[in-house]
Amino acid sequence: MAKVLTDALLASILERVRPLTAQGQVADYIPALACVPAEKLGIAISTVDGQHFQAGDAGERFTIQSISKVLSLVLAMGLYEEHEIWQRVGKDPSGQPFNSLLQLELEKGKPRNPFINAGALVVCDMLQSRLSAPRQRMLEVVRQLAGAPDLHYNTLVARSEFDHSDRNAAIAYLMRSFGNFHNDVIPVLKNYFHYCALEMNCVELARCFLFLANQGRAAHLPDGLISAQHTRQINALMVTSGMYQSSGEFAWRVGMPGKSGVGGGIIAIVPHEMSIAVWSPGLDEAGNSLAGTAALEILAREMGRSIF
Ligand code: DON
Repeated sequence: MAKVLTDALLASILERVRPLTAQGQVADYIPALACVPAEKLGIAISTVDGQHFQAGDAGERFTIQSISKVLSLVLAMGLYEEHEIWQRVGKDPSGQPFNSLLQLELEKGKPRNPFINAGALVVCDMLQSRLSAPRQRMLEVVRQLAGAPDLHYNTLVARSEFDHSDRNAAIAYLMRSFGNFHNDVIPVLKNYFHYCALEMNCVELARCFLFLANQGRAAHLPDGLISAQHTRQINALMVTSGMYQSSGEFAWRVGMPGKSGVGGGIIAIVPHEMSIAVWSPGLDEAGNSLAGTAALEILAREMGRSIF
């Protein structure tokens, strides 16, 4: 029988996956991330009927990294017509690591989807073209979504990413050579790194992404940030591409739209019901949280939830 959601259930799931925190690899290609303690482990849930659950280090902030790619897409969807976005970035899984250059050359500078680095950089380029202050706009939106007016960027992490940005810069310049990048590369990279360096905790993340479980609505949101149709589209992209080359494996094990970040966070959505945020910095080979994925797998099984 499906278990009832409680803080105690979440705490017991964390204890069961805790041994895995020692097996993952904390991201070290961004030096400022390498010093995050691997033993951190947290989970939080927000439900569409207004309940909140949490356990472990759910109140401790970390950089959300690629989870921010969902938010930059939300901003772009509000500024551009659909065809303007999807002629520049695809909607298909890449089957490649998130920072790969290989496919991009073969496919003439059009990234497979908005959740690999290339796709997110195109989206950031689009934001740069239409927003006078893209960093400030992102902060306004996430503070409102998360109900946390003090959210901010970790500027040390953003700086560290910029100091080690060869691969992302190469991706952006390659796209520019194909005409699929319109602004100067450096300022767009800096905005992208700030978005990745946005700090949130699991409670704030779960609350922030509740709109994806609730057809674009959230009690604390003004109408019109995002339509029901756009939230369906984002959930579909999260299922097919949210976990990079492990998206199929994640669908198999967890059965929910998900998006990971190399900070160790994952956000997962049960449509019409809840948003779940987990955090454990140790990653698997695809760059997804090892213990975080295992926690979501147990939670999905014990609550009897899957979109399939
Ligand atoms: O650009 C990067 O490589 C990082 N700032 C973000 C990558 C990331 O989070 C991939 N996700 N699992």
